[in-house]
Amino acid sequence: MEKVLIAKDLVKQYVTKGHITNALNGISFDVCRGEYVGIMGASGSGKSTLLNCIATIDQVTSGNIYIAGKDITTISENQLSAFRREQLGFIFQDFNLLDTLNCKDNIALALSILGEKPRLISKKVNEIANELGITQILKKYPYEISGGQKQRVACARAIVTEPSLILADEPTGALDSKSAFMLLDNLEYLNDQKGATIVMVTHDAFTASHCGRILFIQDGRIFYELYRGDSDRKAFFQKIMKVVSDMGGDNDHVL
Ligand SMILES: Nc1ncnc2c1ncn2[C@@H]1O[C@H](COP(=O)(O)OP(=O)(O)O)[C@@H](O)[C@H]1O
Ligand SMILES: [Mg+2]
Repeated sequence: MEKVLIAKDLVKQYVTKGHITNALNGISFDVCRGEYVGIMGASGSGKSTLLNCIATIDQVTSGNIYIAGKDITTISENQLSAFRREQLGFIFQDFNLLDTLNCKDNIALALSILGEKPRLISKKVNEIANELGITQILKKYPYEISGGQKQRVACARAIVTEPSLILADEPTGALDSKSAFMLLDNLEYLNDQKGATIVMVTHDAFTASHCGRILFIQDGRIFYELYRGDSDRKAFFQKIMKVVSDMGGDNDHVL
């Protein structure tokens, strides 16, 4: 199976006022094309640091990250921005939509920057909007729609360029439970039907139970890895909760 992501011996140190924080302490894992991988761990365990380093937003102190065969730790800043636009899709907790563009243009922007022809852009945006059930809100501006709708627009934006990898950091974090359900449906659709490879950070076991595999992070290290296999979502949720409690988290839905 083709490996879309290879993370090798990742170390990240933050130095602030002479104080060193070891956010990542030697993390290695691979993600194959078409996988849907969750990254779980308590607050401060290094999840966002890991995702931001893979997203090329932050840089590792040492180690290598290969995305679609390219080592992103060795390419120049100039090449990085092109690489980011062509190979990666992002979904963040706070949506990151541009307030001055309507939803259609927010999605279209990702394609315009890649130099796609306007007619093709319009066709692609309409197609994905239809598939994700957001056609009715395309003309609206971000301030006119709900958080759940914004996140589904962000989903459309992330997939429309057909990136090698979609990265999501707590995508359900700011949503009520009904909107979270719809978003998780959308992500499942992108993974199942569009073949999207997704790496999603979450501290929520219910959200994580939609993934095919979970990496549990503790103190910047991989503590445990859990595959869904043939389990249904509920059974997988129970297995996740077991690991969460073994890790010392409480028995709530969250770590
Ligand atoms: N920009 C930064 N400067 C200094 N320390 C940071 C920075 N970002 C994160 N950290 C520290 O690195 C560790 C991991 O943080 P983070 O990756 O945000 O964890 P998580 O997303 O799992 O909550 C924490 O101890 C955090 O305080
Ligand atoms: Mg975080």
